[in-house]
Amino acid sequence: MMYMKSPKDVAYFIAEGHARDASPSSSANPPPPFHMMAFKGRLSTMQIQDLAAFVLAADGYLVPSEGSVAKGSEVSLKFGCESCHGVGGSGGVLNPKSFTGTVPGWIGPDFNDLTRNRLEFGEWVLDGRSAGMKKNRAASFFLNRATLQMPSFRGVLAEQDVGNLWAYILWLRSKPASPETKNDSTP
Ligand code: HEC
Repeated sequence: MMYMKSPKDVAYFIAEGHARDASPSSSANPPPPFHMMAFKGRLSTMQIQDLAAFVLAADGYLVPSEGSVAKGSEVSLKFGCESCHGVGGSGGVLNPKSFTGTVPGWIGPDFNDLTRNRLEFGEWVLDGRSAGMKKNRAASFFLNRATLQMPSFRGVLAEQDVGNLWAYILWLRSKPASPETKNDSTP
């Protein structure tokens, strides 16, 4: 996947079975023994675009390759944060008996209701709940009742991991809500 630059390139690859700029085979450049299947005609343009978006998301391709955002993304994947909070913090995983019925995402406008700053973020991640929520009996009632509980990662994650996770979440929140492929019909 290293030579793919954008969702368009990935969609092209899925549709045609080769990269856009692949040089034609010649005696100096013999054809490979196997070809990626061309899916054009088997899948609609929309399906190919959705697949390309999925491939990029699943690959974490759009995440920067180094720095605190990259490290935060690695920690998030390693500890399964996004199996509850949704891919890229998109939310929506069902949580019966919880206040909203789903595990909250990280990217929506509601995020700041529960996590106002880096300090509260650390409390959620290390203690499974913010200090403010712990003191609030009504909130605690709903949090305790929920089927899925935010795990406490104290003793598992270092302060630095928490800082990197925070950088990752701020980065996710800074991105436009929908992937650029959404309204683009020309792969
Ligand atoms: C087992 C599922 C599960 C896993 C795994 C999980 N969480 Fe949570 N998380 C929850 C639930 C449930 C809540 C409580 C929110 C509620 O119901 O109001 C929560 C709350 C939070 C909150 C505060 C709510 C908000 O959106 O502002 C943050 C931040 C958070 N989790 C981050 C993380 C991070 C980072 C990881 C990985 C290190 C992680 N979570 C792993 C289920 C999970």
